[in-house]
Order: sequence, then C-alpha cells, then structure tokens
Amino acid sequence: MGLTGSRTRPITAPINEDAEVGTRVVLITGCSTGIGLSTAVILAEDVKRFKVYATMRNLEKKSELENAVGKHLGESLIIKALDVRNEEEVNRLVKEIEMEEGRIDVLVNNAGQGLVSVFECIPIETAQHVFDTNYFGVMRMLKAVLPGMKARRKGHIINISSVIGVNGTPFSEVYSASKFALEGLTESLAPTLRKFDIRCSLIEPGPVTTSFTQNAKFLREGIDISSADEKTQQLLKAALKEMYSNVQTQSQTPEEVASIIKSVILSANPHLRYQTNSKYGPGEIQAKLSDLTGDKAIQLMERRFFPDCLLDAIVHSSNISCNGSSLDALAELRPVLASAAPGSLLHGPCSWRP
Ligand SMILES: NC(=O)c1ccc[n+]([C@@H]2O[C@H](COP(=O)([O-])OP(=O)(O)OC[C@H]3O[C@@H](n4cnc5c(N)ncnc54)[C@H](OP(=O)(O)O)[C@@H]3O)[C@@H](O)[C@H]2O)c1
Repeated sequence: MGLTGSRTRPITAPINEDAEVGTRVVLITGCSTGIGLSTAVILAEDVKRFKVYATMRNLEKKSELENAVGKHLGESLIIKALDVRNEEEVNRLVKEIEMEEGRIDVLVNNAGQGLVSVFECIPIETAQHVFDTNYFGVMRMLKAVLPGMKARRKGHIINISSVIGVNGTPFSEVYSASKFALEGLTESLAPTLRKFDIRCSLIEPGPVTTSFTQNAKFLREGIDISSADEKTQQLLKAALKEMYSNVQTQSQTPEEVASIIKSVILSANPHLRYQTNSKYGPGEIQAKLSDLTGDKAIQLMERRFFPDCLLDAIVHSSNISCNGSSLDALAELRPVLASAAPGSLLHGPCSWRP
C-alpha cells in the first residue's frame, strides 16, 4: 500500500466510556472559541459527572460560551479569566479552584496559537510568543496543578497536541516544534505521574473547523515574506493550497473532537495518544513510526505538499502573484482551489490543471 493509501486506515486508540459516577472538577484553557468552547459545553451539559472551570484570556469574548452553555452557566460551568502566559494568574486561579472545590481532577491544556510562514522570515519574538502559549503555557499550568494531584494521588492531564505535533509539516515548522515539545514533555512526564495514579493523554487532531487558521499568526499579522527566495514562495503557495484543501475536505468539527475528549476523560484506562480523525493523521503517524530512518515521513510530506503537477501549475499560473502577504496568496488561490477536484491531491494522481 502506498503512503497516501495508508492514511485512511484508522489507528485511533479505542475509547471506552465507563459508567463511573461522581463529579470531576475540570479546568480547561482557551475556551473563548473552537475546541475549548465545545469541550467546556459538552462536559458542562453532563451535570452529574462534571463541573467545568472554563477559562479564557479575554472575558470580553465570553458571550459565545455563555450562550452555548445556557442554563448551566454558574452551575456546572464557571467562566474565569486566564492567560496561560501569566504565571501569577495561573497560580492564583489554580489555588482559588482548589480552595473552592478541594481539587482539580482533570486539566485540559487546550489554549494554542498557530503560525504558518516562511521559516527564515519569522521574527524570533513571534516564535517565542507561540512557544510561550503552546509549550510554556502548558508548563505553567502543570507546575501549578501537579502538586495538588500528586498529594491526592489522582488526576488526568489532557494536552491538545496535533498531528503536526508528530509529523513535521512544511511552513508550520515553529508551530510543529512547539507541539513536538508538548509531546516530549507529556511522554516524559507520564511514567513518573503514573506512580501517582495521574494519567496523561495527548489529543492529536487533524484539521478542525475552528477559527484557528484565521487566528494563526501568519495570516493575522501578515509576516513579511517578501525577502524569501522565489522558489520558497512557490512552495509556500503549494503548501497553502494543501492546507486549504485539507480544511475543505477532511476537517472535523470542534464538537466531534470535544466528544472524543469527553470519552478520554471517562475512559477507565486512558491511553497516552489519541488521533481524532481517521481521515487525517493515523496514516502519516504510522508511516513515520514504521520507518526508523525517518525517510518515509519526509517523502510523505514532500509528496503531499509539493506534488510536481501542482508546482508546475502554480509556476505557470498568471493569476497568482505572491506579494509578500500569505493572506493575499491564500485568497488568490481560492478560485483556483475551487476548480480542483476535492481531495484529488490527497487520494490519487493529480487531476488539477491550470
Ligand atoms: N483547528 C485545528 O485545525 C487544530 C488542529 C490540531 C490541533 N489544534 C489545537 O487545538 C487547540 C485549540 O485550537 P482551536 O482549533 O480551537 O483554535 P481557536 O478557535 O483559535 O482557539 C484557540 C483558543 O486558545 C486561546 N488562546 C490563545 N492564546 C492564549 C493564551 N496565551 N492564554 C489563554 N488562551 C489562549 C484563544 O483565545 P483568544 O480567543 O483570546 O485568541 C482561543 O480560545 C490548540 O492547542 C490547537 O493547537 C487545532
């Protein structure tokens, strides 16, 4: 079976819901939108089993969550302000919840920041900002929560990683590295924490239909890529096309991911890793793990992101010009993408022609 063929084979770990009753106190970061919001709502609706502290860095954004959770607001769901980059705020909130509830049973580290760009054009401060949320934010949360969990000999840490946290992905290098760091942190902590009956789980979604892509730094802040060489700019366009196509054809909804997170929390014997999307991720991860040289993983990404026919089309297309802004590049690609057979680049020979 070819590399792309194997990608549809699900290796998602089995998820068991056990019937254990009792209210778990759950703290979730980044609940203003997307996966965090959906997870907070789905758990809070299960009032017998969960009490949720849903946090967000900007409380002005809380109305979407308030509306979604409706009558459970103030009962099984409490909204609190929390920027995971602020250590003092993290420590204060964790203490407050522990005082109020006596414990935190489950921590869901969901807050995340994307970054898509040409690697050599990324200012160091921008990369540091991404790590400050995606990696150091999780570290701050863990440092605050683990002493209590260790003392009670009980707890579950759920870190929202990504398929990109296992398979390095072109033009997402810094984001990918931040999620690799998260994977390494989680895997390294897990054996020690098991000695305290604290379990660690990594959730590895593929594309999810949230505002994550729009929020990704490259698109939002328009990092200047005009100094990048022409070939790299062409490759970026091909990669953006692939990313857009993935979102169009293979995305999950945040609700789907949230319900998997709920099942993981309820699992009697949770695993370390869960791939949430059988259409995107398991094949890549399997290809990587089955080849210790690492060559297969690189070939897979090269073939997926830069198929020759797409590169030719981009080079010869007169209506695509890269002027230094990826947002423009993506917008310019949309009409071209619309004419592409959905998923054609992913599942078979390239059928798209300029
Ligand atoms: N969407 C995908 O395709 C995808 C795929 C794989 C993994 N993931 C991961 O899933 C997680 C959730 O992303 P999403 O898709 O739901 O995207 P999203 O809709 O953009 O949500 C990201 C959330 O993180 C919050 N956040 C960012 N920086 C923060 C900080 N310093 N402190 C506290 N909160 C912060 C955002 O708050 P603001 O509203 O204030 O910005 C927002 O609530 C992320 O860890 C992401 O890496 C997403």
